[in-house]
Amino acid sequence: MDREQPDESTSRSSGTVDGTHGSEPGSEESEKRDETETLPNGEVRRWWKEAVVYQIYPRSFNDTNGDGIGDIPGIISKVEYLDDLGVDVVWLNPVYESPNADNGYDVSDYRTIMDEFGTMADWEALLAELHSRDIRLVMDLVANHTSDEHEWFQRSRRSKDSECREWYFWREGHDAEAVSWSASDGPPDEAPPNDWQSFFGGPAWTYDEATGEWYLHLFDEKQPDLNWETEAVREAVFETMEWWLEKGIDGFRMDVINLVSKPPGLPSTDPERGIDTVDRVTQGPRVHEYLQEMREKVLSPDLLTVGEMTGWQMPMEHARQYVGQGPDRDGLSMLFHFEHMRLGRGERLWETREWSLTDLKAVFDRWQSGLADEGWNALYFSNHDQPRTVSRFGDDGEFRRESATLLATLLHTLRGTPYIYQGQELGMTNVPFESLSEFRDVETRNPVRRAIERGEIESFEAVADEIRANSRDNARTPMQWSDDAYAGFTDADAEPWIKVNPNYEEINVAAQREDPQSVWHYYRRLIALRDEHDVMTYGDYDPLLQDHESVWAYTRTLGDVTWFVVLNVSGTATTVEAPIEVTEDADPGVLIANYPEEARAHEELPGGTLELRPWEARVYDL
Ligand code: NOJ
Repeated sequence: MDREQPDESTSRSSGTVDGTHGSEPGSEESEKRDETETLPNGEVRRWWKEAVVYQIYPRSFNDTNGDGIGDIPGIISKVEYLDDLGVDVVWLNPVYESPNADNGYDVSDYRTIMDEFGTMADWEALLAELHSRDIRLVMDLVANHTSDEHEWFQRSRRSKDSECREWYFWREGHDAEAVSWSASDGPPDEAPPNDWQSFFGGPAWTYDEATGEWYLHLFDEKQPDLNWETEAVREAVFETMEWWLEKGIDGFRMDVINLVSKPPGLPSTDPERGIDTVDRVTQGPRVHEYLQEMREKVLSPDLLTVGEMTGWQMPMEHARQYVGQGPDRDGLSMLFHFEHMRLGRGERLWETREWSLTDLKAVFDRWQSGLADEGWNALYFSNHDQPRTVSRFGDDGEFRRESATLLATLLHTLRGTPYIYQGQELGMTNVPFESLSEFRDVETRNPVRRAIERGEIESFEAVADEIRANSRDNARTPMQWSDDAYAGFTDADAEPWIKVNPNYEEINVAAQREDPQSVWHYYRRLIALRDEHDVMTYGDYDPLLQDHESVWAYTRTLGDVTWFVVLNVSGTATTVEAPIEVTEDADPGVLIANYPEEARAHEELPGGTLELRPWEARVYDL
């Protein structure tokens, strides 16, 4: 098996958990573990494969200064909570200075902390507090675009001759009569330089009165795209990364990093050949070259680097190039793809499609097998851009606890690194938003307003169910700490920046910590189990019953240890023939299951038949 080839050629060792750089031979860190030990099935041991990552969206996590916005001191006061849950890494969404057109994904200064969140001293205290508990910190790198208020863009837009003009994409428009696309802004006789659409709806170009040219923004008009073809841009990004690494962080989550190479000439879409904007801008011709340059200049295999890779289906060849560790590969630790999140979704927020469990299994099987021999998966069911896991893939009504724990089992027993998004460990649900004005998200508000203006939809009410199901704001309502006012997220007199889910009196941390059967305790047990058993991290994944409409089953094998995972992904009891052979004298034990002990009558194997209750999950050691 040609698994990861440890590459010793890279120049930098990462920050260790004590905040210093490089694990010197003989140091506590290197004695604790041989980072490149190879396991019986050829897997190379890495701390970031064994880790469980917890994602924090600071704006909604915990507010300590009573302004209704979460802050860094608020995170510090919850580090003990994270430690108790057992997570190993925190991924922090952007905390840099930003005008917040897209909640921090529009950075105006990469080296300053946003006032609303605190100070650099607060951030340093957070890093120290996390490291003191052996929790590592991964920062968000937003480098496909900046804010239009970033100094680089300000200089770039100053004049056509600015020394920073080539740091962004400035182009002349077209004669509006000569092309088939248009924009509502800009001179009436001009059309944008091409027909690309922004990910947030509307043209991807904005006209600049002062210089008479258009600039490219694949997201909001306040998020101009950086031009990575300009060497100075790459240097500036790499320097910024170095600067944060010097502070002792443990890795980066790289925002839409597969968009950084744009196709030469910026050609329009080609509907006849089925090529849309997304196809045009993902996996551009120089993307691997740029990432390899970044790898050589800045990164090390001992950092956790996770690339967010937007788009439709990613060819596995590209995936292996991104996350392969060989000398000609890009060397990211792992990537986020969107293929499971796209199931059931149309192109617009309010479009939905039918999907089935076999579709979902097929996505995971493709990625589990696609990266089996080279590369590593990032596993996630939600984040700050997605609806809540239990509402999206489970049942947030009658079987909320059962389905949330089943999905937790899946998350922790596939091959890859699990990512828990804040509140997922409680089974937090989608939010009953009542009107468009209750939403805060640019990706929800702008496209809906534009579609209403153009008569494409009649009103918010006409698509309210779909928007409620799909909006990113479902993930962004405050973390539910207790049944106190505003869920304990902020002082009782401060109105939070976004509404609190009204179900906080029932679903909250305080209640779940008291209840041994809660979703929270189940997450904690899964995380602890992963710490104890290498097979859970490194075992080979072999799918079973792939065509079954409601049961998801697979084994994980490492050496002579085999685990069997069986999940009834439905609200109906199901009986299946056990898809595995168990010898007469075997005594397969259940390692974890999501029905309480007293209700676990039929769990024995062998016996051939498995009777699974609604949303039941079991993990056996065969
Ligand atoms: C992906 C981020 O996760 C999302 O929140 C953001 O809006 C876009 N990238 C643009 O930065």
